[in-house]
Amino acid sequence: MSTVLYPGSFDPFHYGHLDVVTQAAELFGSVVVAVMHNPQKPSGVLPTQTRLDIAQKMLSDIPGVTVQAFGGLAVDAARSAKADFIVKGLRTPGDFEVEQQMAHTNYAVAHVRTVYVPCQPGLSHVSSRFIRDIVHYGGDVSSMVPAFVVDALQKSFSARS
Ligand code: PNS
Repeated sequence: MSTVLYPGSFDPFHYGHLDVVTQAAELFGSVVVAVMHNPQKPSGVLPTQTRLDIAQKMLSDIPGVTVQAFGGLAVDAARSAKADFIVKGLRTPGDFEVEQQMAHTNYAVAHVRTVYVPCQPGLSHVSSRFIRDIVHYGGDVSSMVPAFVVDALQKSFSARS
């Protein structure tokens, strides 16, 4: 059994992320989902605590999974969580290009390795950015996130306007 770190912005956590964590828990046993944020430079739509709450709620049934917020570098979060390596999900060739550069950088600076998990084919289109856009304009994202995530996004959009 290994402990792995699954870092991301999770703005919001969605069914594609859930699939990756489910696979990682089956493969490696223990998964720390790391909600990465920069306290000096808050960005995105959902507050960090809301991102944590959503991930925790969506992952509550999977044994061996914990959710934590981290600032700073993913490699430092991996060390702090005592993770053996980082796990990332791959949806598209575009993801691979971005992730490969991060994986090489994380190995170069800290000798932290990255392992990729391919997403289920039916989830390759699911993206937090598209979910935010669709909710913002009132569209249907019920195939990508539960209803309480839509409520949280709508609340954040309303608070901004
Ligand atoms: O869900 P995202 O936005 O694709 O996740 C990107 C994330 C948070 C995993 C990446 O930006 C990250 O690792 N940020 C932490 C800062 C860091 O380690 N930067 C160096 C990357 S090589």
